[in-house]
Amino acid sequence: MITVLFGAPGAGKGTQADLLADRLGYKKISTGDALRKHIRSGTEVGLKARSYMDEGKLVPDDVLLEVLGSELLSSGNANVLLDGYPRNTAQAEALGALVKSKGIRYCIHLDVNSNVLVDRISGRRTCSSCGSTYHITYNPSKVFGVCDRCGGDTVQRPDDSEDKVKVRLAVYEQQTKPVLEFYKNAGLYRRVDGTGTTQEVFERICATLNQA
Ligand code: AP5
Repeated sequence: MITVLFGAPGAGKGTQADLLADRLGYKKISTGDALRKHIRSGTEVGLKARSYMDEGKLVPDDVLLEVLGSELLSSGNANVLLDGYPRNTAQAEALGALVKSKGIRYCIHLDVNSNVLVDRISGRRTCSSCGSTYHITYNPSKVFGVCDRCGGDTVQRPDDSEDKVKVRLAVYEQQTKPVLEFYKNAGLYRRVDGTGTTQEVFERICATLNQA
């Protein structure tokens, strides 16, 4: 089964997907992480995606479908958590067609107000080697600037600068939020309050998943 973890930039999708993967054995598929990996490896997909990501805009749907298709192929029969896909209604329709046999269980919307989003994004630091995520206040690495997991440098993501965040939040409002209507109409929408500590949000998500 597929669970869509949905939310604005900085809502905590990646943080919660990592917890659900570590503690409950879900397979996390993050399209943002996959695209950043393509960019680091200098693949054709990475070359196509880079300028869009640097500007905070959505990467074209055909590129994403290729990325998602190969990630899903390698996920086998695992229960999958999708972090960052779909991001527009066309992607939601494409996902439905792609995963028919596995089925979509829920779209879990991590609902967080915009002040909290900006606070979370501006303090985020990401490991340039393994992609682990920290926050300078809420989840700092043990040694400032050094990743706990692999010892790599933790840095600010290029698209986390103030001007890029504005673009990403506007893209979310205009292109991504309408996806919620798609899942409401399909009866798959579940809202989860995304504020509070990481553990509190995790417990709310687990309660929602256990409703099945
Ligand atoms: P992507 O990497 O998916 O970025 P995003 O959606 O903007 O989401 P973020 O990674 O910013 O936030 P998050 O919700 O994962 O929050 P996190 O857990 O890190 O996409 C990047 C780009 O790739 C896009 O702009 C686009 O160009 C492209 N792209 C990707 N998918 C695409 C698609 N499908 N179609 C087209 N283009 C696509 O948390 C944020 C911070 O808050 C962290 O520091 C964390 O430690 C902290 N935090 C988390 N939870 C809490 C909490 N409860 N309390 C306190 N702090 C918390």
